[in-house]
Amino acid sequence: MIRAFGPGRVNLIGEHTDYNGGLALPFAIDRGVTVEAEPLAGGEIRAEARDLGERDAFPAAAPGRAGGWRAFVRGTVAELRATGVPLEGARLAFSGDVPLGSGLSSSAALEAALCLALLAVAGAAEPDRTELAKLCSRVENDWVGAETGLLDQLASLRSREGEAIRIDFSTLAIAPVPLPLGGWRLVTLESGAEHTHAAGGYNERRAECRAACEALGIQHLSAADPDAAAALPTPLDRRARHVLSENARVDAMVAALAAGDLPAAGVLLDASHASLRDDYEASVPAVEDAVAALKRAGAAGARMVGGGFGGSVLALLPPGVALPPAARAVLPGPPAALM
Ligand code: GLA
Repeated sequence: MIRAFGPGRVNLIGEHTDYNGGLALPFAIDRGVTVEAEPLAGGEIRAEARDLGERDAFPAAAPGRAGGWRAFVRGTVAELRATGVPLEGARLAFSGDVPLGSGLSSSAALEAALCLALLAVAGAAEPDRTELAKLCSRVENDWVGAETGLLDQLASLRSREGEAIRIDFSTLAIAPVPLPLGGWRLVTLESGAEHTHAAGGYNERRAECRAACEALGIQHLSAADPDAAAALPTPLDRRARHVLSENARVDAMVAALAAGDLPAAGVLLDASHASLRDDYEASVPAVEDAVAALKRAGAAGARMVGGGFGGSVLALLPPGVALPPAARAVLPGPPAALM
């Protein structure tokens, strides 16, 4: 029996920057999805989502389309085979502790674990992990219908235990960033509003960013001149302002962490949230309530994580501040791996 674990992720800061050629600072978390796999004669893939009590079966050579979690499994099989992985029949079962729609990237956790498990079933060597992240992102884009960037997949596949990684999406360069938290704690709180990237605001924001780039004649928004961006028609001017200010906050966060200045890290979380709420307009009332509850509980900073429009909130708690009700401490865990 082959077993593979894929972690979810928290993005410390740098939101909606990945598909804009910008900067982000995620880490893999100590929660995720575990896939069990074994070869199956006959060329069929049989999959079971244990937490949902649901099953799927399809020919490996022709997965065909399906919705929900089935799109992730079928897409991963098809994309692996398209790169020449000799994958035939397999029996798969998965379960996890990153709730779907919680904004902690259950989807990247599932994709990463599926890839490693299916590569092992096929007896294929693991390809370069950045290439594997791109493959997972094609599953999201072409099979699930979410135009997500590479943030979640790189975090799940290329993180380092105990550290965050600074990703520069203009080059895909990755640098480790230690997280010297001392007695401070990072916690997540589910807002209760589920989000899905395939619907709603996420794809709309991507379209707005593309429109801004076309108007400015640039490849990606992170390359925008601030004055030219400010002259864009609204709301494109505000979308661009978020991306440029968020990139600056990523490096300010790296500096704050290097200096052990955690109060400054809290201020940056708050500033990121304000920018996502006001300039990027990616918040919803349930997320605002969760941020307010965490701040009332004594957080030094709190912000939405991931694509927004629902999902989880991340907060930084000073030493001695009790864990707010329903919040969970989160630690930087190891990247996806065979177990
Ligand atoms: C989602 C997407 C990522 C990224 C974030 C926002 O998590 O999957 O690619 O765009 O939203 O930073």
